[in-house]
Amino acid sequence: MKDIYILAIESSCDETSASIIKNGKIDISTIINSQIDIHTKYGGVVPEVASRLHLENITMVIDQCLSNANMKLCDIDAFACTYAPGLLGSLLVGLESTKALSYVFKKPFIAVNHMMGHIYANMLENNLEYPLLSLIISGGHTDLILMKSEDDFEYLGQTLDDAIGEAYDKVARILSLPYPGGPNVELYAKQGKTEYAMPVILNDESYNFSFSGIKSYVNNFVHNEKQRGHEINKYDLAASFQNCVVSHLVEKTKKALINYNLKTLLISGGVASNNYIRESLRSMCESLNVNMYMPEKKYCTDNAAMIGAAAYILYKNKKFAPLSTNAKSNANI
Ligand code: KG4
Ligand code: ZN
Repeated sequence: MKDIYILAIESSCDETSASIIKNGKIDISTIINSQIDIHTKYGGVVPEVASRLHLENITMVIDQCLSNANMKLCDIDAFACTYAPGLLGSLLVGLESTKALSYVFKKPFIAVNHMMGHIYANMLENNLEYPLLSLIISGGHTDLILMKSEDDFEYLGQTLDDAIGEAYDKVARILSLPYPGGPNVELYAKQGKTEYAMPVILNDESYNFSFSGIKSYVNNFVHNEKQRGHEINKYDLAASFQNCVVSHLVEKTKKALINYNLKTLLISGGVASNNYIRESLRSMCESLNVNMYMPEKKYCTDNAAMIGAAAYILYKNKKFAPLSTNAKSNANI
């Protein structure tokens, strides 16, 4: 069979990325231009700034990606990009660039859901076996999805309020740690002890998650301690918070694995680059004799390689998108 080369673009938030993926598996070239340094000044992503920076960088990122691969646009079999979910202005930059390439080079256009990209980041290194449970943990999502086959997604549970990454970022801000908060909370937690009592989170029969209560609890706790003139040990507070949210994550995931009798767990999304979470889920899986797949850390946070991997599944099934496709800030897979 002929090799298929997909040029994929990701621009849903604050990373402008382009990647060439061969047969949905091999990362020929991936460029990620991160805007983190600029957004750090504002303590979070500023949507207008993000879309302007995508516009400034997109052509350069695509050019670099092609030159690293030693390929030309005419060598590409299909053009793919993230169309949802994300920041509208940011999505539009990647979407319109990709549609233009597809139109000019007369090759299929593939519109990829960003969350599907996160899941299929796992395909870049592994051959997946179904059925499996997919846990997506990112800045915008915390989803448990049952996959009976490659393109069959049944949502078992989602967060009822904030995503886990949002909670990490908010707690970082409360502790005055710089943006992006997640990796910094992890660093602090590693050096702390779980000395602070934390509330129990949504201990119910569902597979849903909740992270806004713990976020408010930490906020109120810090505020009250300051009012009383008490000093807070940031390391211990980060460790106590992390232990609490990760226990919640592990318990709900474990329940879904047992009740659906699943033998494979996939994890993905930016928060899946957290070592404590990777190890906690891995030891839970070992206790259940469940195989666990997780992407290399560079494929956990936003990147175009994962979009290329997901696009290949759509390519194989001839699920091409019309050039009238629009960006959407929200969309389930
Ligand atoms: O998947 P991603 O890059 O973008 C979204 O699709 O949302 O995830 C970004 C989120 C942010 O909330 C960031 O703080 C969090 O992932 N994150 C982490 C870690 N690395 C990134 N959270 C906890 N620990 C980490 N090491
Ligand atoms: Zn993402």
